[in-house]
Amino acid sequence: MANSEDLMKKIVSFAKRRGFVFPSSEIYGGLAAVYDYGPLGVLLANNVKTLWWKATVQEHREIVGLDAAIFMSPKVWEASGHVGGFSDPLVEDKDNHQRYRVDHLLEEVGVQADEKMTRDEMQTLLDENIDAIREKYPKMGELSDVKQFNLLVKSNLGDFTDSGSDPVYLRGETAQGIYVNYKHVLDSMRVKVPFGIAQVGKSFRNEVTARQFIFRTREFEQMEMQYFVHPDEAKTVYEDWKQKRMDYYTSLGISADNLRYHEHENLIFYAKEAYDIEYQYPFGWKELEGLHARGDYDLTVHAKHSGKPLEYNDQVRGEKYVPHIVETAVGVGRTMLMFLSEAYTEEEVDGETRVVLKFHPKVAPYKVAILPLSKKEELQAVAEPIWQTLSQKWSVDYDETQSIGKRYRRQDEIGTPYCVTVDFDTLEDKCVTVRDRDTMEQERIAIDELESYFEAKLA
Ligand code: GAP
Repeated sequence: MANSEDLMKKIVSFAKRRGFVFPSSEIYGGLAAVYDYGPLGVLLANNVKTLWWKATVQEHREIVGLDAAIFMSPKVWEASGHVGGFSDPLVEDKDNHQRYRVDHLLEEVGVQADEKMTRDEMQTLLDENIDAIREKYPKMGELSDVKQFNLLVKSNLGDFTDSGSDPVYLRGETAQGIYVNYKHVLDSMRVKVPFGIAQVGKSFRNEVTARQFIFRTREFEQMEMQYFVHPDEAKTVYEDWKQKRMDYYTSLGISADNLRYHEHENLIFYAKEAYDIEYQYPFGWKELEGLHARGDYDLTVHAKHSGKPLEYNDQVRGEKYVPHIVETAVGVGRTMLMFLSEAYTEEEVDGETRVVLKFHPKVAPYKVAILPLSKKEELQAVAEPIWQTLSQKWSVDYDETQSIGKRYRRQDEIGTPYCVTVDFDTLEDKCVTVRDRDTMEQERIAIDELESYFEAKLA
């Protein structure tokens, strides 16, 4: 690909054109940093969530699921530290009101800001580096002073006229729903430490910068797992999950060269140890997933603020303690953007450019497309039942418009691993042509054997 900026532009326009991602409410001019998933985006997002759930919950007897509500008592967010500490340093261009995250501006000139810095310290660091920043942003106007901008999204519930009531928040992370339900899960599920609770759900943040497509959005879905362990086991469990999560991505076709760990030196308020798994997006190495050793921070603050003891009575060890938490946390949108970036390929075929999404079959929105050679009824009579049978097991597309060459290209573009062509020979030999997306090789397969053929291919 010519350069990474071009690649990103191509992915954004391709994602809209082929029904993956649409800008939100675009007919009204859109809403910054909010996106909708189109028909293929939904299929991709569902695969991302199902694969994560399988690897995290289904394949671990000791991990259970949860679906906590988005609205929670505002006390949760005060206790967790989000009301006081979950903020980004921000400056505004006084001319055009464009907002910038100060830590991002500094990063661009090679200066690492510390998350624990006060507003004044951040202002000093910005002032020291403003000349270098202005070289990068020659059109930048006069800047406001640095402000700390809280990321929690406020909302209203119930009686709007009750101005004395505390604001409610749309949750800023799914993790808090897990901590406040930890006791319920212990009491209802007979789980024993070590055990985990996993959740997939929407989170909301008033993100300051809104320029990175579905990488950073104000409404997004998180897939988070909190693993509760004895303090002595926390380090081993943390290292184990660090490895598991990295292996997970390579098992789904992500090149190891595009993945790396990044250790956080400046820890966010809750973390004892934190690594990111970074992916090399078209705009550079960025956080894909957060892996946090949270210690006993969360259960301790919730026990303190709620007045409810959240200790664990370990009958095997004969001890009472507050379990430590190891967290894996990743966004659905960020994972989708990784899969799209990794898969997007342009190839020269017979003097033409072929766009193909080389998705791992498990990730691909459709696994198979059924393509009757023409709209003739006798071909439809064979193709339709094939679709009926295969769609019991997989998402299968059906397309009978335009030339077969164009239809192959359309399926290549959306990453469908296999196309099945029903032609006039099929009426005689009861076989169809199966075309492989990546090699473009074709083979004749008996209709009766198609299901087992794809079971083997897609296993
Ligand atoms: N419970 C810990 C937590 O929320 P985080 O690093 O703030 O940690 C975890 O978020 C993951 O959620 C990130 O690694 C990223 O994949 C995703 N994420 C966070 N903010 C996001 C945003 N504004 N848009 C899209 N994904 C986001």
